[in-house]
Amino acid sequence: MKRYQTKESEGQSSFIRYKDKTIKDFGEQWLTYRNNEGYYSSLKLFSDILFPFLKPEDLKNCKIAEIGSGTGRIVNMLLESDAKHVWAIEPSEAFEVLHSNISKPEKVTCLNMTGDQLPAYGDLDYVFSIGVLHHIPDPAPVVEAAFKTLRPGGHFLVWLYGKEGNGLYLALIRPLRVLTKRIPHFILSSLVEIMYWPLVLYIKSCHRLPFPLRGYMLSVLEKMSPEKRRLIIYDQLNPSYAKYYTQFEAKKLLSDGKFVNIRIHHRHGYSWTVIGTKP
Ligand SMILES: C[S@@+](CC[C@H](N)C(=O)[O-])C[C@H]1O[C@@H](n2cnc3c(N)ncnc32)[C@H](O)[C@@H]1O
Repeated sequence: MKRYQTKESEGQSSFIRYKDKTIKDFGEQWLTYRNNEGYYSSLKLFSDILFPFLKPEDLKNCKIAEIGSGTGRIVNMLLESDAKHVWAIEPSEAFEVLHSNISKPEKVTCLNMTGDQLPAYGDLDYVFSIGVLHHIPDPAPVVEAAFKTLRPGGHFLVWLYGKEGNGLYLALIRPLRVLTKRIPHFILSSLVEIMYWPLVLYIKSCHRLPFPLRGYMLSVLEKMSPEKRRLIIYDQLNPSYAKYYTQFEAKKLLSDGKFVNIRIHHRHGYSWTVIGTKP
Protein backbone atom coordinates (compact mmCIF):
# COMPACT_ATOMS: atom_id res chain seq x y z
CA MET A 1 0.00 0.00 0.00
CA LYS A 2 1.33 3.45 -0.89
CA ARG A 3 1.88 5.70 2.14
CA TYR A 4 1.30 9.43 1.91
CA GLN A 5 3.08 11.97 4.09
CA THR A 6 0.95 14.70 5.60
CA LYS A 7 2.19 18.31 5.21
CA GLU A 8 2.96 18.29 8.95
CA SER A 9 5.11 15.15 8.82
CA GLU A 10 6.85 16.45 5.67
CA GLY A 11 7.67 19.60 7.64
CA GLN A 12 8.92 17.51 10.58
CA SER A 13 11.17 15.37 8.39
CA SER A 14 12.68 18.41 6.66
CA PHE A 15 13.33 19.90 10.15
CA ILE A 16 15.14 16.70 11.13
CA ARG A 17 17.12 16.61 7.86
CA TYR A 18 18.27 20.23 8.30
CA LYS A 19 19.02 19.70 11.99
CA ASP A 20 21.20 16.61 11.36
CA LYS A 21 22.97 18.16 8.38
CA THR A 22 23.73 21.37 10.32
CA ILE A 23 25.24 19.36 13.18
CA LYS A 24 27.35 17.42 10.66
CA ASP A 25 28.49 20.71 9.03
CA PHE A 26 29.65 22.02 12.41
CA GLY A 27 31.47 18.78 13.18
CA GLU A 28 33.52 19.31 10.01
CA GLN A 29 34.02 23.01 10.77
CA TRP A 30 35.39 22.45 14.27
CA LEU A 31 37.66 19.59 13.19
CA THR A 32 39.33 22.17 10.90
CA TYR A 33 39.24 25.27 13.14
CA ARG A 34 40.05 23.46 16.40
CA ASN A 35 41.83 25.93 18.61
CA ASN A 36 40.62 28.90 20.69
CA GLU A 37 43.03 31.83 20.76
CA GLY A 38 43.36 35.59 21.10
CA TYR A 39 40.43 37.99 21.22
CA TYR A 40 38.08 35.25 19.90
CA SER A 41 38.35 33.39 23.21
CA SER A 42 39.02 36.33 25.54
CA LEU A 43 37.15 37.58 28.59
CA LYS A 44 37.02 40.96 26.80
CA LEU A 45 34.89 39.45 24.03
CA PHE A 46 32.81 37.59 26.64
CA SER A 47 32.06 40.93 28.39
CA ASP A 48 30.99 42.31 25.01
CA ILE A 49 28.67 39.30 24.44
CA LEU A 50 27.09 39.61 27.92
CA PHE A 51 26.67 43.41 27.75
CA PRO A 52 24.47 45.09 29.01
CA PHE A 53 22.81 42.37 31.09
CA LEU A 54 25.68 40.61 32.85
CA LYS A 55 29.37 40.86 33.63
CA PRO A 56 31.76 37.89 33.87
CA GLU A 57 32.05 38.49 37.63
CA ASP A 58 28.28 37.90 38.06
CA LEU A 59 28.94 34.26 37.15
CA LYS A 60 31.29 33.53 40.07
CA ASN A 61 30.29 30.30 41.89
CA CYS A 62 27.32 29.72 39.58
CA LYS A 63 26.15 26.46 38.03
CA ILE A 64 25.86 27.01 34.28
CA ALA A 65 24.97 25.01 31.17
CA GLU A 66 26.09 26.06 27.71
CA ILE A 67 24.05 24.66 24.81
CA GLY A 68 26.08 24.21 21.62
CA SER A 69 29.63 24.48 22.96
CA GLY A 70 31.56 23.89 19.71
CA THR A 71 35.28 23.98 20.51
CA GLY A 72 34.66 25.14 24.07
CA ARG A 73 35.65 28.80 23.87
CA ILE A 74 32.55 29.92 25.85
CA VAL A 75 33.04 27.07 28.35
CA ASN A 76 36.57 28.35 29.02
CA MET A 77 35.27 31.93 29.34
CA LEU A 78 32.78 30.67 31.96
CA LEU A 79 35.60 28.89 33.81
CA GLU A 80 37.72 32.05 33.67
CA SER A 81 34.74 33.89 35.19
CA ASP A 82 34.97 31.45 38.15
CA ALA A 83 31.80 29.46 37.49
CA LYS A 84 31.35 26.65 40.02
CA HIS A 85 30.46 23.99 37.44
CA VAL A 86 29.72 24.04 33.71
CA TRP A 87 27.67 21.56 31.66
CA ALA A 88 28.83 21.71 28.03
CA ILE A 89 26.37 20.37 25.46
CA GLU A 90 27.71 19.58 21.98
CA PRO A 91 26.08 17.09 19.60
CA SER A 92 28.61 17.12 16.73
CA GLU A 93 31.77 15.16 15.96
CA ALA A 94 33.63 18.10 17.47
CA PHE A 95 32.87 16.64 20.92
CA GLU A 96 36.45 15.32 21.17
CA VAL A 97 37.82 18.79 20.28
CA LEU A 98 35.64 20.32 22.99
CA HIS A 99 36.90 17.76 25.51
CA SER A 100 40.55 18.38 24.71
CA ASN A 101 40.24 22.20 24.78
CA ILE A 102 38.72 22.54 28.24
CA SER A 103 40.98 24.37 30.68
CA LYS A 104 39.65 22.94 34.00
CA PRO A 105 38.11 19.53 33.19
CA GLU A 106 37.33 18.81 36.85
CA LYS A 107 34.74 21.63 36.76
CA VAL A 108 33.04 20.57 33.52
CA THR A 109 30.56 17.87 32.49
CA CYS A 110 30.57 17.37 28.71
CA LEU A 111 27.39 15.93 27.23
CA ASN A 112 27.38 14.66 23.64
CA MET A 113 23.73 15.40 22.88
CA THR A 114 21.42 17.95 21.29
CA GLY A 115 20.08 20.86 23.34
CA ASP A 116 16.58 19.40 23.72
CA GLN A 117 18.14 16.42 25.56
CA LEU A 118 19.74 18.55 28.29
CA PRO A 119 18.79 16.84 31.59
CA ALA A 120 16.24 18.70 33.75
CA TYR A 121 18.56 19.29 36.74
CA GLY A 122 16.27 22.05 38.04
CA ASP A 123 18.96 23.85 40.07
CA LEU A 124 21.16 25.66 37.52
CA ASP A 125 21.69 29.42 37.84
CA TYR A 126 22.22 30.15 34.14
CA VAL A 127 21.87 28.58 30.73
CA PHE A 128 23.76 30.19 27.83
CA SER A 129 23.35 29.54 24.14
CA ILE A 130 25.63 31.73 22.06
CA GLY A 131 25.20 31.58 18.30
CA VAL A 132 23.31 28.29 18.36
CA LEU A 133 19.51 28.62 18.35
CA HIS A 134 19.56 30.36 14.95
CA HIS A 135 21.06 27.11 13.58
CA ILE A 136 18.25 24.92 14.95
CA PRO A 137 15.15 24.66 12.72
CA ASP A 138 12.85 23.87 15.67
CA PRO A 139 14.36 25.61 18.72
CA ALA A 140 11.25 25.37 20.99
CA PRO A 141 12.23 21.99 22.58
CA VAL A 142 15.69 23.42 23.35
CA VAL A 143 14.18 26.47 25.05
CA GLU A 144 11.91 24.12 27.02
CA ALA A 145 14.93 22.03 28.15
CA ALA A 146 16.73 25.23 29.25
CA PHE A 147 13.65 26.23 31.26
CA LYS A 148 13.44 22.84 32.99
CA THR A 149 17.11 22.69 33.96
CA LEU A 150 17.14 26.16 35.58
CA ARG A 151 16.17 26.86 39.19
CA PRO A 152 13.31 29.32 39.73
CA GLY A 153 14.93 32.74 39.37
CA GLY A 154 17.60 31.32 37.03
CA HIS A 155 18.35 33.05 33.71
CA PHE A 156 18.58 31.98 30.06
CA LEU A 157 20.83 34.18 27.87
CA VAL A 158 20.91 33.68 24.11
CA TRP A 159 22.73 35.43 21.30
CA LEU A 160 21.15 35.32 17.84
CA TYR A 161 21.77 36.66 14.33
CA GLY A 162 19.52 39.66 13.75
CA LYS A 163 17.49 40.52 10.69
CA GLU A 164 17.41 44.25 11.40
CA GLY A 165 20.73 45.88 10.50
CA ASN A 166 21.70 43.07 8.14
CA GLY A 167 19.64 44.00 5.05
CA LEU A 168 22.45 44.47 2.54
CA TYR A 169 24.52 41.64 3.99
CA LEU A 170 21.59 39.23 3.70
CA ALA A 171 20.91 40.30 0.11
CA LEU A 172 24.50 39.23 -0.72
CA ILE A 173 24.96 36.20 1.52
CA ARG A 174 21.65 34.41 0.97
CA PRO A 175 22.15 33.69 -2.76
CA LEU A 176 25.77 32.73 -2.06
CA ARG A 177 24.76 30.33 0.73
CA VAL A 178 22.48 28.40 -1.64
CA LEU A 179 25.74 27.19 -3.20
CA THR A 180 28.23 27.25 -0.32
CA LYS A 181 26.20 25.14 2.10
CA ARG A 182 26.30 22.34 -0.49
CA ILE A 183 29.93 22.41 -1.65
CA PRO A 184 32.63 20.14 -0.17
CA HIS A 185 34.82 21.38 2.63
CA PHE A 186 38.02 21.80 0.54
CA ILE A 187 36.27 23.99 -2.07
CA LEU A 188 34.67 26.08 0.69
CA SER A 189 38.08 26.56 2.32
CA SER A 190 39.47 27.86 -1.00
CA LEU A 191 36.53 30.24 -1.33
CA VAL A 192 37.26 31.53 2.18
CA GLU A 193 40.83 32.37 1.03
CA ILE A 194 39.42 34.32 -1.93
CA MET A 195 37.04 36.27 0.32
CA TYR A 196 39.56 36.96 3.07
CA TRP A 197 41.43 39.90 1.48
CA PRO A 198 38.33 41.84 0.36
CA LEU A 199 37.12 41.47 3.97
CA VAL A 200 40.39 42.94 5.31
CA LEU A 201 40.01 45.86 2.89
CA TYR A 202 36.38 46.33 3.96
CA ILE A 203 37.36 46.42 7.66
CA LYS A 204 40.05 49.04 6.94
CA SER A 205 37.61 51.15 4.89
CA CYS A 206 35.19 51.16 7.83
CA HIS A 207 37.62 53.44 9.68
CA ARG A 208 36.87 56.19 7.15
CA LEU A 209 33.44 55.37 5.76
CA PRO A 210 30.07 54.57 7.37
CA PHE A 211 29.68 51.19 5.66
CA PRO A 212 27.05 48.62 6.75
CA LEU A 213 28.08 46.56 9.82
CA ARG A 214 30.75 49.13 10.64
CA GLY A 215 30.23 48.69 14.42
CA TYR A 216 30.77 44.93 14.22
CA MET A 217 33.74 45.27 11.85
CA LEU A 218 35.61 47.67 14.13
CA SER A 219 34.52 46.42 17.56
CA VAL A 220 34.80 42.70 16.94
CA LEU A 221 36.16 41.45 13.61
CA GLU A 222 39.17 43.78 13.44
CA LYS A 223 40.37 42.44 16.80
CA MET A 224 40.36 38.82 15.61
CA SER A 225 43.46 37.01 14.32
CA PRO A 226 43.63 36.21 10.57
CA GLU A 227 42.77 32.56 11.33
CA LYS A 228 39.66 33.52 13.30
CA ARG A 229 38.52 35.94 10.59
CA ARG A 230 38.78 33.04 8.14
CA LEU A 231 36.78 30.87 10.54
CA ILE A 232 34.07 33.54 10.72
CA ILE A 233 33.76 33.68 6.93
CA TYR A 234 33.58 29.87 6.85
CA ASP A 235 31.00 29.87 9.67
CA GLN A 236 28.74 32.21 7.67
CA LEU A 237 28.86 30.07 4.53
CA ASN A 238 28.95 26.52 5.90
CA PRO A 239 25.91 25.59 8.07
CA SER A 240 22.90 24.18 6.24
CA TYR A 241 20.46 26.09 8.41
CA ALA A 242 20.77 29.73 9.57
CA LYS A 243 17.88 31.99 10.53
CA TYR A 244 18.12 35.76 11.00
CA TYR A 245 15.72 36.79 13.78
CA THR A 246 13.63 39.94 13.96
CA GLN A 247 13.43 41.62 17.35
CA PHE A 248 9.86 40.34 17.72
CA GLU A 249 10.85 36.73 16.92
CA ALA A 250 13.84 36.87 19.25
CA LYS A 251 11.72 37.95 22.23
CA LYS A 252 8.94 35.50 21.33
CA LEU A 253 11.40 32.61 21.39
CA LEU A 254 11.81 33.10 25.14
CA SER A 255 8.28 34.27 25.97
CA ASP A 256 6.81 31.17 24.25
CA GLY A 257 9.11 29.16 26.51
CA LYS A 258 7.46 30.66 29.63
CA PHE A 259 10.39 32.94 30.50
CA VAL A 260 9.52 36.29 32.09
CA ASN A 261 11.23 39.68 32.44
CA ILE A 262 12.60 39.33 28.92
CA ARG A 263 15.11 41.98 27.91
CA ILE A 264 16.76 42.44 24.54
CA HIS A 265 19.82 44.31 23.23
CA HIS A 266 20.68 45.05 19.57
CA ARG A 267 24.36 44.08 19.81
CA HIS A 268 26.55 46.17 17.48
CA GLY A 269 23.42 46.87 15.43
CA TYR A 270 23.35 43.43 13.75
CA SER A 271 22.41 40.76 16.32
CA TRP A 272 20.25 40.14 19.39
CA THR A 273 21.27 39.37 22.94
CA VAL A 274 18.17 38.22 24.82
CA ILE A 275 17.82 37.29 28.47
CA GLY A 276 14.82 35.88 30.34
CA THR A 277 14.16 34.59 33.84
CA LYS A 278 12.41 31.41 35.01
CA PRO A 279 9.61 32.52 37.35
C1 LIG B 1 28.22 28.70 15.81
S1 LIG B 1 28.57 27.35 16.85
C2 LIG B 1 28.69 28.15 18.41
C3 LIG B 1 29.67 27.47 19.35
C4 LIG B 1 29.90 28.20 20.68
N1 LIG B 1 28.67 28.50 21.38
C5 LIG B 1 30.70 29.46 20.47
O1 LIG B 1 30.14 30.57 20.52
O2 LIG B 1 31.91 29.34 20.22
C6 LIG B 1 27.03 26.46 16.98
C7 LIG B 1 27.18 25.14 17.73
O3 LIG B 1 25.87 24.62 18.01
C8 LIG B 1 25.89 23.22 17.83
N2 LIG B 1 24.52 22.75 17.55
C9 LIG B 1 23.90 22.66 16.35
N3 LIG B 1 22.68 22.12 16.50
C10 LIG B 1 22.51 21.89 17.83
C11 LIG B 1 21.46 21.34 18.62
N4 LIG B 1 20.33 20.92 18.07
N5 LIG B 1 21.64 21.26 19.97
C12 LIG B 1 22.80 21.69 20.53
N6 LIG B 1 23.83 22.20 19.83
C13 LIG B 1 23.69 22.31 18.50
C14 LIG B 1 26.84 23.01 16.68
O4 LIG B 1 27.34 21.69 16.62
C15 LIG B 1 27.91 24.06 16.94
O5 LIG B 1 28.99 23.56 17.67
